[in-house]
Amino acid sequence: MSDETSKVEAQRTWGGRFGGSPAELMTRINASIGFDKRLWREDITASKAHAGMLRDQGIIGLDDAAAILDGLDQIAAEYERDGVPERAELEDIHMTVEHRLGELIGAAAGRLHTARSRNDQVATDFRIWVRTSCETAVQAIQGLQGVLVARADEHAETVMPGFTHLQVAQPVTLGHHLMAYYEMLRRDVSRFADARARMNENPLGAAALAGTGFDLDREATAKALGFERPTANSLDSVSDRDFALDYLSAAVQCSLHLSRLAEELIIWASPQFGFVKLSDQFSTGSSIMPQKRNPDAAELVRGHSGRILGCLTSLMVTMKGLPLAYSKDMQDDKEPVFEAFDLLMLSLEALAGMVETITFVPERMRAAAEHGYSTATDLADWLVREADVPFREAHHITGRAVKLAEERGCQLDALPLDDLKAIDARIDQRVFDVLSVDASVRSRTSYGGTAPARVREQIAKAKAELGR
Ligand code: ARG
Repeated sequence: MSDETSKVEAQRTWGGRFGGSPAELMTRINASIGFDKRLWREDITASKAHAGMLRDQGIIGLDDAAAILDGLDQIAAEYERDGVPERAELEDIHMTVEHRLGELIGAAAGRLHTARSRNDQVATDFRIWVRTSCETAVQAIQGLQGVLVARADEHAETVMPGFTHLQVAQPVTLGHHLMAYYEMLRRDVSRFADARARMNENPLGAAALAGTGFDLDREATAKALGFERPTANSLDSVSDRDFALDYLSAAVQCSLHLSRLAEELIIWASPQFGFVKLSDQFSTGSSIMPQKRNPDAAELVRGHSGRILGCLTSLMVTMKGLPLAYSKDMQDDKEPVFEAFDLLMLSLEALAGMVETITFVPERMRAAAEHGYSTATDLADWLVREADVPFREAHHITGRAVKLAEERGCQLDALPLDDLKAIDARIDQRVFDVLSVDASVRSRTSYGGTAPARVREQIAKAKAELGR
């Protein structure tokens, strides 16, 4: 053990009542600095708010407070420049900062931890970090939404097959299809915003678990740290990780949407579909098959959503059996959140890049839409509207027309009128106005429908929402 390390051992925060040093293994299992160093900015910000409040309440002297605040600024500058040193014997980011403060300003550093515990400290730091991450997620989601809206605008009239059961169902427009993802992402934005609002209470001042006898001003630290108010129950304050679970739940739902979009791009990029061509920037080749162009980025987005769900599961299982208040299991709250954050941001950015650079192939989409008798419903609807046929009967008549077209190997609108009339005498020439895929999409003007006019309305609304 080096001299410096033994000094640290002797000064371990809780060293007073211990005779010996912990086993090397104990130090290793206990340490969280390897990952919680990511909270250094939040730790210093929260410590500065705490020190300022202690000073204003007359709990620590003006000189000590000034030294603490200066020292913390100096540490921030050091970490910004050189990164955070990782010393397992200092356990975590909180002790790492406090130890460095002691080196810089001496005994006054010991006053910072007055009326505070690492339990409320970590709860505060982590909350601030997660709160910022909600904002970052919203920005990245809106970035992807912007790309979707722009591509939807280009393709508000491009006809493609709409699917159910991955079978051609009815023609839709590509713009409409892309805007479906815009809507999913809109809900994701609102989930992150909800989570942020709900978590925005300040746990600092709960101390270890029971509050403190010092005359704290928790409103003041709440205000300084941008929280709406202090948390109301000290036990809950140090043992609550709902904010992290809320963040992860929102991240999971968002990643499910990204995974579904990724899956569609993968299907569309297959030569069998050929609806899109991935740009060189977002596809990879095969090391053995020169003809291949693989949608790896989309596949990774699809894969990452599974990992993000794993992060939520991990923290839920960590929390489910814990008695009040703090238990060390809770140190394991950070890695899943950091991992989910990194994966989600990467996925959002990669998908935005893919959608922005993808080439759509309208001819292939149109051909596929025209192929699967996708206007059969339009024929049935026409019979209902123009010939007053009950829908179930119209469905039956249309089925016979599809069967005939199948036998002839042609599309519905290629059947001669006489043959249609032979199926049902009420059919007349006007039916051909609705049998083309263009007429079909143009007719779907119900609110939220796929008619280009309706899609353009939604695009305009979306642009206004995004401030573009
Ligand atoms: N590193 C710890 C964590 O992340 C800080 C809280 C330590 N509290 C304690 N009572 N040992 O959870």
